[in-house]
Amino acid sequence: MTVDRRAFRDALGCFATGVTVATSTTPKGELHGITANSFNSVSLNPPLVLFSMDRSAYSLKAFEESGCFAINILRDDQISLSSTFAQALADKWDGIAYEIWETGCPILTDALASFDCRTHSIHDGGDHLIFVGRVLRHRSQDEGQPLLYFRGTYHHIG
Ligand SMILES: Cc1cc2nc3c(=O)[nH]c(=O)nc-3n(C[C@H](O)[C@H](O)[C@H](O)COP(=O)(O)O)c2cc1C
Repeated sequence: MTVDRRAFRDALGCFATGVTVATSTTPKGELHGITANSFNSVSLNPPLVLFSMDRSAYSLKAFEESGCFAINILRDDQISLSSTFAQALADKWDGIAYEIWETGCPILTDALASFDCRTHSIHDGGDHLIFVGRVLRHRSQDEGQPLLYFRGTYHHIG
């Protein structure tokens, strides 16, 4: 059976996710970030998380070579951040508030939760690469709701 691309995407879009910004940095200190909803937890012990990245993404090389990445889970009022980091090649960092923790990868100051990771492994995922990260440090906020993504559009809880 051949898989129709449009129908496949529509089926995948039935899985409601949160929205994250995955970030990384180069040895020269150049910052990279992409909007990603492919984030997931992997393991509690050791603490591992994953996301997948399109092989054609401009930022791919930086993520592959840096040996680290950070995941920032967006709040429901951060659609504009999601849109900013979903743009190819734009200067995405103008006016963005961030901190640096252990790895040098940017941690978005107002994220609902953040995970600073050393890259544990990178796996073939067809037209994507799957990045598994070992969490070195994390933070989550007690208050606030996540931004959701479902059937190709943003949603809020409730
Ligand atoms: C809600 C949403 C989720 C996305 N999830 C992913 C993802 O998981 N992996 C990915 O490679 N691209 C994802 N994208 C697309 C990238 O954010 C987009 O291609 C971005 O331009 C990549 O940045 P770059 O070209 O600077 O590397 C998503 C976009 C949106 C709007």
